[in-house]
Amino acid sequence: MPEKIAQIGRQAALAAGAVMRQNYQKPHEITMKGAIDPVTETDYQCQEIIMGIIRQAFPDHGFLAEERVGEGDVGQPPSAAPQPGPASLAWETDPGPTCRWIIDPLDGTVNFAHGFPLFCASIALEADDVLEYGVVYDPLRDELFEGRRGGGATLNGRPIRVSETARLERALIGTGFPYDIRERVPETLGRLGKMLASTQGVRRGGSAALDLGYVACGRLDGFYEENLKPWDTAAGILILAEAGGRITTFTGADYDIYAPNILASNGVLHDKIIDIING
Ligand code: IPD
Ligand code: CA
Ligand code: CA
Repeated sequence: MPEKIAQIGRQAALAAGAVMRQNYQKPHEITMKGAIDPVTETDYQCQEIIMGIIRQAFPDHGFLAEERVGEGDVGQPPSAAPQPGPASLAWETDPGPTCRWIIDPLDGTVNFAHGFPLFCASIALEADDVLEYGVVYDPLRDELFEGRRGGGATLNGRPIRVSETARLERALIGTGFPYDIRERVPETLGRLGKMLASTQGVRRGGSAALDLGYVACGRLDGFYEENLKPWDTAAGILILAEAGGRITTFTGADYDIYAPNILASNGVLHDKIIDIING
């Protein structure tokens, strides 16, 4: 992967993070996309900044971004499903791959809107439908998670690895609740109850991208959630895969960013968590 991809991705994530830092303690203009699904002026501003930086550097690249800030910016899934895969290096091919950036300009908007200090920007680059680069930036902790296909994962430039926790009763598990939670309370509570009964603890941070980054660096041992969107997970799954983690659906099937649910873990605990979720 050309180094310029990482340079620009990082620059865009840092720029969006700076805007979040400036705005998060100020009053927000909030509009609702659904009953409990807010968007603030900062979500739009961050997306414009991220896309502006990328467009300037790579005018021919495409986008799949969460917020509607301009015609053609938000798209629906293509037929192919990008996933982390084995390493490939050279892009000096003619023609080069078709590149698309997958962007969650502000992951953790409910937190942000309430002044709860946990949110981030999440940006991934796929080339010919394969995830090549992911960056997740938490502006309040100044923590930058990055992953490159075949090149490992880092936190602020230092290599990271998943935890070695092998026993569920020692495991800290992250989860989240989708915006359509009101339509799925019984199943969600059923799974949560089983997790609470089997693990050391369960956390609901409020940013799926950071949840995945936290599994990647060993702060969490696993994470699960239903109905996430491609922009919630694209960067995080690459970072986690490169940190040695395993990512599937709740049933253990291969995960792609359009899957209806995600189970991510340090690998060691994965089958045990699948048994609990489905038990
Ligand atoms: C949300 C966050 C949250 C998760 C929701 C997501 P947003 O994204 O990642 O942790 O539980 O399912 O939609 O709306 O803040 O970008
Ligand atoms: Ca999100
Ligand atoms: Ca968002």
